[in-house]
Amino acid sequence: MAKINTSLEGKVAILTGASSGIGRASALAYAAHGANLVVVSRGKDRLEALAKEARAFGVEVLPVIADVGEEADLQNIYRQAIEKFGGVDILLNNAAISDRVMMQNLQYESFERVLRTNTFAGIRLAQLCHSSLKKRRGVIVNIASDDSLYPSVGLGAYSMSKISQVHFTKLLAVEWGKDGIRVVCVSPSLTRTPMAAEWVKSVEAKLEKGNYRLNPMDRVCEPEEVAAMVLFLSSPAASFINGYNYVVDGGMSAQVPI
Ligand SMILES: NC(=O)c1ccc[n+]([C@@H]2O[C@H](COP(=O)([O-])OP(=O)(O)OC[C@H]3O[C@@H](n4cnc5c(N)ncnc54)[C@H](OP(=O)(O)O)[C@@H]3O)[C@@H](O)[C@H]2O)c1
Repeated sequence: MAKINTSLEGKVAILTGASSGIGRASALAYAAHGANLVVVSRGKDRLEALAKEARAFGVEVLPVIADVGEEADLQNIYRQAIEKFGGVDILLNNAAISDRVMMQNLQYESFERVLRTNTFAGIRLAQLCHSSLKKRRGVIVNIASDDSLYPSVGLGAYSMSKISQVHFTKLLAVEWGKDGIRVVCVSPSLTRTPMAAEWVKSVEAKLEKGNYRLNPMDRVCEPEEVAAMVLFLSSPAASFINGYNYVVDGGMSAQVPI
Protein backbone atom coordinates (compact mmCIF):
# COMPACT_ATOMS: atom_id res chain seq x y z
CA MET A 1 0.00 0.00 0.00
CA ALA A 2 1.17 3.52 -0.81
CA LYS A 3 1.98 6.01 1.93
CA ILE A 4 -1.20 7.27 3.69
CA ASN A 5 -1.96 10.84 2.57
CA THR A 6 -2.45 13.19 5.51
CA SER A 7 -1.24 16.26 3.62
CA LEU A 8 -3.36 19.41 3.83
CA GLU A 9 -1.10 21.28 1.42
CA GLY A 10 -2.90 24.33 0.02
CA LYS A 11 -6.13 23.70 1.96
CA VAL A 12 -7.89 26.41 3.94
CA ALA A 13 -9.15 25.61 7.43
CA ILE A 14 -11.35 27.66 9.75
CA LEU A 15 -10.81 26.71 13.41
CA THR A 16 -12.88 28.15 16.25
CA GLY A 17 -11.36 28.23 19.72
CA ALA A 18 -7.91 28.02 18.15
CA SER A 19 -5.99 30.01 20.75
CA SER A 20 -5.85 27.33 23.44
CA GLY A 21 -5.92 23.63 24.26
CA ILE A 22 -7.31 21.25 21.64
CA GLY A 23 -7.96 24.02 19.09
CA ARG A 24 -4.40 25.27 19.41
CA ALA A 25 -2.90 21.78 19.03
CA SER A 26 -5.14 21.16 16.00
CA ALA A 27 -4.15 24.49 14.42
CA LEU A 28 -0.46 23.59 14.74
CA ALA A 29 -1.09 20.10 13.34
CA TYR A 30 -2.97 21.56 10.37
CA ALA A 31 -0.21 24.14 9.79
CA ALA A 32 2.49 21.47 10.02
CA HIS A 33 0.62 19.56 7.29
CA GLY A 34 0.43 22.58 4.98
CA ALA A 35 -2.99 24.16 5.61
CA ASN A 36 -3.58 27.91 5.61
CA LEU A 37 -5.60 28.90 8.65
CA VAL A 38 -8.39 31.19 9.76
CA VAL A 39 -8.07 31.04 13.54
CA VAL A 40 -10.82 32.33 15.82
CA SER A 41 -11.23 33.24 19.47
CA ARG A 42 -12.61 36.09 21.59
CA GLY A 43 -9.25 37.06 23.11
CA LYS A 44 -6.45 38.62 21.04
CA ASP A 45 -3.13 37.86 22.77
CA ARG A 46 -3.19 34.05 22.82
CA LEU A 47 -4.62 34.03 19.28
CA GLU A 48 -1.82 36.18 17.91
CA ALA A 49 0.77 34.05 19.70
CA LEU A 50 -0.73 30.94 18.09
CA ALA A 51 -0.83 32.63 14.68
CA LYS A 52 2.87 33.47 14.94
CA GLU A 53 3.74 29.88 15.91
CA ALA A 54 1.66 28.46 13.05
CA ARG A 55 3.23 30.82 10.47
CA ALA A 56 6.62 29.28 11.30
CA PHE A 57 5.43 26.26 9.27
CA GLY A 58 5.35 28.49 6.19
CA VAL A 59 1.56 28.79 5.91
CA GLU A 60 -0.68 31.86 5.90
CA VAL A 61 -2.68 32.52 9.05
CA LEU A 62 -5.56 34.96 9.47
CA PRO A 63 -6.58 35.62 13.09
CA VAL A 64 -10.22 36.71 13.55
CA ILE A 65 -11.44 37.97 16.91
CA ALA A 66 -15.01 36.74 17.29
CA ASP A 67 -17.54 35.36 19.74
CA VAL A 68 -19.09 32.36 18.03
CA GLY A 69 -22.25 32.90 20.04
CA GLU A 70 -22.94 36.03 17.95
CA GLU A 71 -24.46 35.83 14.45
CA ALA A 72 -22.68 38.97 13.20
CA ASP A 73 -19.33 37.52 14.33
CA LEU A 74 -20.00 34.23 12.51
CA GLN A 75 -20.77 36.10 9.30
CA ASN A 76 -17.58 38.11 9.76
CA ILE A 77 -15.47 34.94 10.18
CA TYR A 78 -16.84 33.55 6.91
CA ARG A 79 -16.54 36.86 5.04
CA GLN A 80 -12.92 37.35 6.12
CA ALA A 81 -12.02 33.77 5.23
CA ILE A 82 -13.43 34.17 1.72
CA GLU A 83 -11.85 37.61 1.22
CA LYS A 84 -8.43 36.34 2.27
CA PHE A 85 -8.38 32.83 0.83
CA GLY A 86 -11.29 32.58 -1.65
CA GLY A 87 -12.76 29.41 -0.12
CA VAL A 88 -12.89 26.94 2.75
CA ASP A 89 -11.89 23.25 2.75
CA ILE A 90 -12.05 22.43 6.47
CA LEU A 91 -14.26 23.74 9.28
CA LEU A 92 -13.24 22.74 12.81
CA ASN A 93 -16.01 23.63 15.27
CA ASN A 94 -14.11 23.52 18.55
CA ALA A 95 -14.94 26.59 20.68
CA ALA A 96 -17.12 25.82 23.68
CA ILE A 97 -18.20 27.19 27.03
CA SER A 98 -19.67 25.46 30.06
CA ASP A 99 -21.78 26.45 33.00
CA ARG A 100 -21.57 24.76 36.39
CA VAL A 101 -25.17 24.32 37.49
CA MET A 102 -27.33 21.43 38.70
CA MET A 103 -30.42 20.63 36.61
CA GLN A 104 -32.67 21.76 39.47
CA ASN A 105 -31.28 25.29 39.06
CA LEU A 106 -30.78 25.45 35.30
CA GLN A 107 -32.16 28.68 33.84
CA TYR A 108 -33.23 29.12 30.22
CA GLU A 109 -30.79 32.01 29.63
CA SER A 110 -27.68 30.02 30.54
CA PHE A 111 -28.99 26.89 28.77
CA GLU A 112 -29.62 28.93 25.61
CA ARG A 113 -26.17 30.60 25.78
CA VAL A 114 -24.33 27.27 26.08
CA LEU A 115 -26.36 25.63 23.30
CA ARG A 116 -25.97 28.70 21.05
CA THR A 117 -22.18 28.77 21.53
CA ASN A 118 -21.40 25.07 21.57
CA THR A 119 -23.91 23.70 19.08
CA PHE A 120 -25.71 26.30 16.99
CA ALA A 121 -22.52 28.24 16.17
CA GLY A 122 -21.19 25.10 14.46
CA ILE A 123 -24.44 24.60 12.55
CA ARG A 124 -24.49 28.25 11.48
CA LEU A 125 -20.84 28.26 10.36
CA ALA A 126 -21.50 25.05 8.43
CA GLN A 127 -24.47 26.74 6.70
CA LEU A 128 -22.33 29.76 5.81
CA CYS A 129 -19.50 27.56 4.48
CA HIS A 130 -21.77 25.07 2.67
CA SER A 131 -21.36 26.30 -0.92
CA SER A 132 -17.61 26.67 -0.56
CA LEU A 133 -17.24 23.27 1.10
CA LYS A 134 -19.36 21.77 -1.68
CA LYS A 135 -17.17 23.27 -4.39
CA ARG A 136 -14.02 22.03 -2.68
CA ARG A 137 -15.36 18.66 -1.38
CA GLY A 138 -14.58 19.76 2.13
CA VAL A 139 -14.94 18.40 5.63
CA ILE A 140 -16.49 19.57 8.90
CA VAL A 141 -15.04 18.29 12.19
CA ASN A 142 -17.03 18.95 15.36
CA ILE A 143 -15.32 18.64 18.74
CA ALA A 144 -17.86 17.17 21.15
CA SER A 145 -16.83 15.36 24.35
CA ASP A 146 -17.17 12.09 26.22
CA ASP A 147 -20.10 13.95 27.76
CA SER A 148 -21.84 12.95 24.54
CA LEU A 149 -21.70 9.35 25.85
CA TYR A 150 -22.52 10.00 29.52
CA PRO A 151 -23.50 13.39 30.94
CA SER A 152 -21.54 15.10 33.71
CA VAL A 153 -23.59 15.92 36.79
CA GLY A 154 -23.34 19.69 37.35
CA LEU A 155 -22.56 20.36 33.67
CA GLY A 156 -26.01 19.64 32.29
CA ALA A 157 -26.25 22.34 29.62
CA TYR A 158 -22.71 21.55 28.44
CA SER A 159 -23.42 17.80 28.28
CA MET A 160 -26.64 18.38 26.35
CA SER A 161 -24.82 20.66 23.91
CA LYS A 162 -22.26 17.91 23.33
CA ILE A 163 -24.78 15.16 22.48
CA SER A 164 -26.50 17.73 20.21
CA GLN A 165 -23.24 18.09 18.30
CA VAL A 166 -23.21 14.35 17.62
CA HIS A 167 -26.71 14.42 16.12
CA PHE A 168 -25.89 17.58 14.17
CA THR A 169 -22.87 15.73 12.77
CA LYS A 170 -25.01 12.80 11.63
CA LEU A 171 -27.80 14.96 10.21
CA LEU A 172 -25.41 17.08 8.15
CA ALA A 173 -23.46 14.02 7.00
CA VAL A 174 -26.69 12.54 5.64
CA GLU A 175 -27.95 15.80 4.10
CA TRP A 176 -24.64 16.89 2.56
CA GLY A 177 -23.01 13.57 1.63
CA LYS A 178 -24.39 14.03 -1.91
CA ASP A 179 -22.52 17.37 -2.03
CA GLY A 180 -19.21 15.62 -1.35
CA ILE A 181 -18.96 17.10 2.14
CA ARG A 182 -17.93 14.84 5.02
CA VAL A 183 -19.05 15.67 8.57
CA VAL A 184 -17.45 13.94 11.56
CA CYS A 185 -17.24 14.36 15.30
CA VAL A 186 -14.45 13.80 17.84
CA SER A 187 -15.23 13.16 21.50
CA PRO A 188 -12.23 13.45 23.82
CA SER A 189 -12.24 12.52 27.47
CA LEU A 190 -10.48 14.63 30.11
CA THR A 191 -7.67 16.50 28.32
CA ARG A 192 -4.91 18.70 29.73
CA THR A 193 -6.13 22.16 28.64
CA PRO A 194 -6.86 25.44 30.42
CA MET A 195 -10.61 24.66 30.33
CA ALA A 196 -10.07 21.45 32.28
CA ALA A 197 -7.02 22.49 34.34
CA GLU A 198 -8.63 22.23 37.79
CA TRP A 199 -10.22 18.89 36.99
CA VAL A 200 -6.95 17.50 35.60
CA LYS A 201 -5.17 18.58 38.76
CA SER A 202 -7.62 16.86 41.07
CA VAL A 203 -7.77 13.68 38.96
CA GLU A 204 -3.97 13.46 38.75
CA ALA A 205 -3.73 13.85 42.52
CA LYS A 206 -6.10 10.88 42.92
CA LEU A 207 -4.22 8.84 40.29
CA GLU A 208 -0.97 9.58 42.12
CA LYS A 209 -2.42 8.09 45.29
CA GLY A 210 -3.38 4.99 43.30
CA ASN A 211 -6.98 4.92 44.50
CA TYR A 212 -8.71 6.15 41.36
CA ARG A 213 -9.71 4.48 38.13
CA LEU A 214 -9.91 6.99 35.25
CA ASN A 215 -9.27 4.80 32.21
CA PRO A 216 -7.21 1.69 31.39
CA MET A 217 -4.21 3.92 30.62
CA ASP A 218 -4.34 5.64 34.02
CA ARG A 219 -3.70 9.12 32.66
CA VAL A 220 -5.43 12.13 31.14
CA CYS A 221 -5.35 12.86 27.41
CA GLU A 222 -2.93 15.41 25.90
CA PRO A 223 -4.28 17.99 23.40
CA GLU A 224 -1.90 16.69 20.70
CA GLU A 225 -3.53 13.24 20.99
CA VAL A 226 -6.89 14.76 20.08
CA ALA A 227 -5.28 16.85 17.35
CA ALA A 228 -3.88 13.66 15.76
CA MET A 229 -7.44 12.33 15.34
CA VAL A 230 -8.63 15.73 14.08
CA LEU A 231 -5.82 15.84 11.53
CA PHE A 232 -6.51 12.32 10.25
CA LEU A 233 -10.26 12.94 9.91
CA SER A 234 -9.61 16.26 8.10
CA SER A 235 -7.18 14.71 5.62
CA PRO A 236 -7.55 12.81 2.32
CA ALA A 237 -6.69 9.64 4.28
CA ALA A 238 -10.20 9.74 5.82
CA SER A 239 -11.97 10.16 2.46
CA PHE A 240 -14.71 7.56 3.19
CA ILE A 241 -15.16 8.37 6.89
CA ASN A 242 -18.38 10.25 7.46
CA GLY A 243 -21.19 10.80 9.97
CA TYR A 244 -19.64 9.22 13.04
CA ASN A 245 -18.47 10.22 16.51
CA TYR A 246 -14.85 9.19 17.19
CA VAL A 247 -14.06 8.79 20.88
CA VAL A 248 -10.52 9.55 22.10
CA ASP A 249 -10.67 8.34 25.70
CA GLY A 250 -7.82 5.88 26.32
CA GLY A 251 -10.40 3.08 26.59
CA MET A 252 -12.44 4.73 29.36
CA SER A 253 -15.78 3.88 27.76
CA ALA A 254 -14.70 0.24 27.36
CA GLN A 255 -14.17 -0.42 31.05
CA VAL A 256 -16.77 -1.76 33.45
CA PRO A 257 -17.32 0.56 36.44
CA ILE A 258 -16.32 -0.99 39.79
N1 LIG B 1 -10.31 19.70 27.94
C1 LIG B 1 -11.12 18.69 28.09
O1 LIG B 1 -11.03 17.90 29.05
C2 LIG B 1 -12.18 18.42 27.05
C3 LIG B 1 -12.82 17.17 27.07
C4 LIG B 1 -13.80 16.92 26.12
C5 LIG B 1 -14.10 17.86 25.17
N2 LIG B 1 -13.47 19.08 25.17
C6 LIG B 1 -13.88 20.03 24.14
O2 LIG B 1 -12.74 20.48 23.45
C7 LIG B 1 -13.00 21.79 22.92
C8 LIG B 1 -11.85 22.69 23.27
O3 LIG B 1 -11.73 22.76 24.66
P1 LIG B 1 -10.35 22.99 25.42
O4 LIG B 1 -10.36 22.08 26.58
O5 LIG B 1 -9.25 22.95 24.44
O6 LIG B 1 -10.61 24.47 26.00
P2 LIG B 1 -9.68 25.74 26.18
O7 LIG B 1 -8.25 25.38 26.29
O8 LIG B 1 -10.32 26.54 27.25
O9 LIG B 1 -9.89 26.50 24.78
C9 LIG B 1 -11.13 27.01 24.42
C10 LIG B 1 -10.95 27.87 23.20
O10 LIG B 1 -12.22 28.34 22.75
C11 LIG B 1 -12.20 29.77 22.69
N3 LIG B 1 -13.56 30.21 22.95
C12 LIG B 1 -14.32 29.98 24.05
N4 LIG B 1 -15.53 30.53 23.92
C13 LIG B 1 -15.54 31.13 22.69
C14 LIG B 1 -16.51 31.89 21.98
N5 LIG B 1 -17.72 32.14 22.50
N6 LIG B 1 -16.19 32.36 20.76
C15 LIG B 1 -14.96 32.12 20.23
N7 LIG B 1 -14.01 31.41 20.86
C16 LIG B 1 -14.30 30.94 22.09
C17 LIG B 1 -11.14 30.18 23.73
O11 LIG B 1 -10.56 31.45 23.52
P3 LIG B 1 -11.20 32.79 24.13
O12 LIG B 1 -11.53 32.51 25.57
O13 LIG B 1 -10.15 33.83 23.94
O14 LIG B 1 -12.42 33.06 23.31
C18 LIG B 1 -10.10 29.10 23.47
O15 LIG B 1 -9.37 29.40 22.29
C19 LIG B 1 -14.35 22.21 23.49
O16 LIG B 1 -15.35 21.98 22.54
C20 LIG B 1 -14.53 21.29 24.67
O17 LIG B 1 -15.90 21.08 24.97
C21 LIG B 1 -12.51 19.38 26.08
